[in-house]
Amino acid sequence: MNYNKKTVKDIDVAGKKVLLRCDFNVPQDKATGAITDDKRIVAALPTIRYLLEQKAAVIACSHLGKPVATFDSYVKKQAEKGKDPASITEEEWKKSLAKLSLAPVAKRLSELLGQEVIMAADVVGPDATAKAAALQPGQIMLLENTRFEKGETKNDPELAKKMASMAEVYVSDAFGAVHRAHASTAGVAAYLPAVSGFLIQKELEIMGGALANPKRPLVAILGGSKVSSKIGVINNLLDIADTIIIGGGMCYTFAKAMGASVGKSLLESDWLDYCKEMMQKAKEKGVKLLLPVDGLAATEFSADAAAHPVDGVDIPDDMMGMDIGPKTIELYTDAVKNAGTVIWNGPMGVFEFPAFAEGTRAIAKALAESDAITIVGGGDSAAAVAQLGYADKMTHISTGGGASLEFLEGKELPGVACLLDK
Ligand code: 3PG
Repeated sequence: MNYNKKTVKDIDVAGKKVLLRCDFNVPQDKATGAITDDKRIVAALPTIRYLLEQKAAVIACSHLGKPVATFDSYVKKQAEKGKDPASITEEEWKKSLAKLSLAPVAKRLSELLGQEVIMAADVVGPDATAKAAALQPGQIMLLENTRFEKGETKNDPELAKKMASMAEVYVSDAFGAVHRAHASTAGVAAYLPAVSGFLIQKELEIMGGALANPKRPLVAILGGSKVSSKIGVINNLLDIADTIIIGGGMCYTFAKAMGASVGKSLLESDWLDYCKEMMQKAKEKGVKLLLPVDGLAATEFSADAAAHPVDGVDIPDDMMGMDIGPKTIELYTDAVKNAGTVIWNGPMGVFEFPAFAEGTRAIAKALAESDAITIVGGGDSAAAVAQLGYADKMTHISTGGGASLEFLEGKELPGVACLLDK
């Protein structure tokens, strides 16, 4: 896949109407709707500021959450969850949409920019089109949640065309959504010259560089609960990395595949053969595949559970593995010390429980202290790094969760493929 894409600097945006796709899919407090983490809004600021300085009229857009765009589909979904379809009202559906309005994002963006962000009441309806037509150079507006349009997730060409008709140039800075072939992330590029913003440019340069031409040794640290969600990543990285380190819940499926007993630990029995295949592939390719040599276990999955040290790979029958142990930490952090590039995706243990956070903390610390290029995939590992206070010590923390995983899998990303090549 070609990561060398034209950016906002390779095209004339001065005084033009620019449709800017951002990933403003931010976490919100369930009760109050308040934005609990504005990192994704902050990450879009350099591109927005550049466009406004160029006196572009910026029509920003994004999805937020997974709204159900029609009443019929809403009824169907609720019925699947066991609700009586007759009891479901349109009002309830509209309330569910209102909760996913981008209005709070417009407010936060306006505070960060220090200028008004005009909020549209729809995506391509009368309010959005009128406001877009009246938008002046140096002004910014935000369309309503793109997923309020049923054509968005279907990549409907009619919707893409309507969105495109409001602007003269398309800029995408929504790295977190580039793995989605939706109308606003990919479809719209068929109707407008399409380039990347600075955030996508940075993500492609750093992550693309680490995969295409890494400073070696390249060490990949993979954790998280499920082997099944990392299969593609492990497979792709076995062709690229020098060392692959496995931690988190998924290490127990590997341990079982090697013949260890794993007690009540997370286990994906369907993936045992895959684990064996991957261990074989690592051997053939000369890639070091490191697995835990000790750990911490507990009798129950709870923050109050006592941590039982387990020396070796076998977890007692009445226990489940919860974190890597001190010998494993030493083994893994030694590999990080000698690395040229480290890519990390997924926690090493149940880091949200303090008694089982040490493995993840130790890895984060080792990355923070390393001279290597350190790249943290989005999602849980990014949250762990931020929570542990090491965020500014990393070379790069990806803003994409699913997107950064698919990037590491070597998959074509529709939101990148649709942009103009350099
Ligand atoms: C994310 O949060 O990973 C992106 O915004 C994509 O969201 P989605 O999984 O709802 O498409």
